[in-house]
Amino acid sequence: MSAGSNERWRVAPGGTLRGEARVPGDKSISHRAVMLGALAHGETRVTGLLEGDDVLATAGVFRALGVAIEGPRKGAATIHGVGWEGLQPPAEVLDVGNSGTSMRLLAGLLAGLPFATVLTGDPSLSRRPMRRVTDPLATMGARITTGEGGTAPLRIAGGAPLAGIDYTLPVASAQVKSALLLAGLRAEGRTCVTEPAPTRDHTERMLEGFGYPVSRGADTVCLAGGHRLHGTRVDVPADISSAAFLLVAASIAPGSDLVLRHVGWNPTRTGVVDILQRMGADIQVLAVDEAGGEPVADLRVRAAPLRGIAVPEALVPLAIDEFPALFIAAACAEGETVITGAAELRVKESDRIAVMAEGLQALGVTVEPREDGARIVGRPSLGGGRVHSYADHRVAMAFAVAALRAEAAIEVEDCANAATSFPGFVALLRALGLAIEAV
Ligand code: S3P
Repeated sequence: MSAGSNERWRVAPGGTLRGEARVPGDKSISHRAVMLGALAHGETRVTGLLEGDDVLATAGVFRALGVAIEGPRKGAATIHGVGWEGLQPPAEVLDVGNSGTSMRLLAGLLAGLPFATVLTGDPSLSRRPMRRVTDPLATMGARITTGEGGTAPLRIAGGAPLAGIDYTLPVASAQVKSALLLAGLRAEGRTCVTEPAPTRDHTERMLEGFGYPVSRGADTVCLAGGHRLHGTRVDVPADISSAAFLLVAASIAPGSDLVLRHVGWNPTRTGVVDILQRMGADIQVLAVDEAGGEPVADLRVRAAPLRGIAVPEALVPLAIDEFPALFIAAACAEGETVITGAAELRVKESDRIAVMAEGLQALGVTVEPREDGARIVGRPSLGGGRVHSYADHRVAMAFAVAALRAEAAIEVEDCANAATSFPGFVALLRALGLAIEAV
């Protein structure tokens, strides 16, 4: 596991990004493909799978539960699904590293098994709140204990009969929604989850793709336990959350012109493009298609002057992972950008409000962090210097692209975790024109 290792990036200032790229596969969809493939009857063939540490951690969990998985190699994997009854007690604690999605979704899935399991993670994941999943799972009948403060390790007793619930999410979280739906697959009766704002719906879409009946209303999704999942094919689109770094990079670097291929274009994920376009970004949607139940698009982005905006709160859950990149866009925009309704950023892989504010301030940007967001005053150019990513993959990648508008080199500390979501980031960005090197 790369967490804790101390890769540093040095990025020379300036540059222009040009060319074409397909960024690695969508992390959220990749996790779900492995999970549902393992629970299905028959074979599931996945293409475009993200070979990032987080998804490999999920695959490792299912291997420990006795599921044969071939690959992934060049994004292709074959999962020999064993059904719920075929999963075997693991010999060891299940370590999911840095991956919050693995831990939260698996908490729901493992709660429905007849044997006990323990989920652990790295220091970052071990600080993140888990009661948001364990509390509603307990009302379904699951027996799960957390560490002190409601954090990992999660000890899941297993063997408890689950009953469906009708649950309204207190925070807009696809991870919590998905954990409950996965537990609901094994529960007696119906499980319904209502969300306060739309969140990514990959679980619902993929369940349908595996032949599982799901009923969806405006803000509620319901399913009944006891149906079967059938192995299928899954074509994973490129991750819009990874594309976001390139969208911001090309927007802020004068003369840039990039085409990004086969980007996941699910409407619950496109908030970053809406926000950037409101800031004046020149992003064109070239072609929209569908791949395995998910919309995909080719995007063209060209440099454009950005202006600060008040980010509409309704767009926040639709761009929740893109705020590190958006902080950089805001720092390079004319005028001020105000982000509100984004308190969730404080409980991601790092406290992204505090960490982005600290790094931007080190580069000479005026940032006022707030409990649920920040006010960022843009500048024509950024200073150089050393910033800390606090081992947060998206923070590291955001500060790397900031160098395109810096007056001096930016050094980013503790970057190895970029491999959790965007393996090959350094090589790809170099090929497109960013003067980045890992040291
Ligand atoms: C994810 C949901 C989001 C997101 C995370 C992946 C998912 O978390 O931040 O990177 O795959 O369901 P929340 O649902 O907790 O906001």
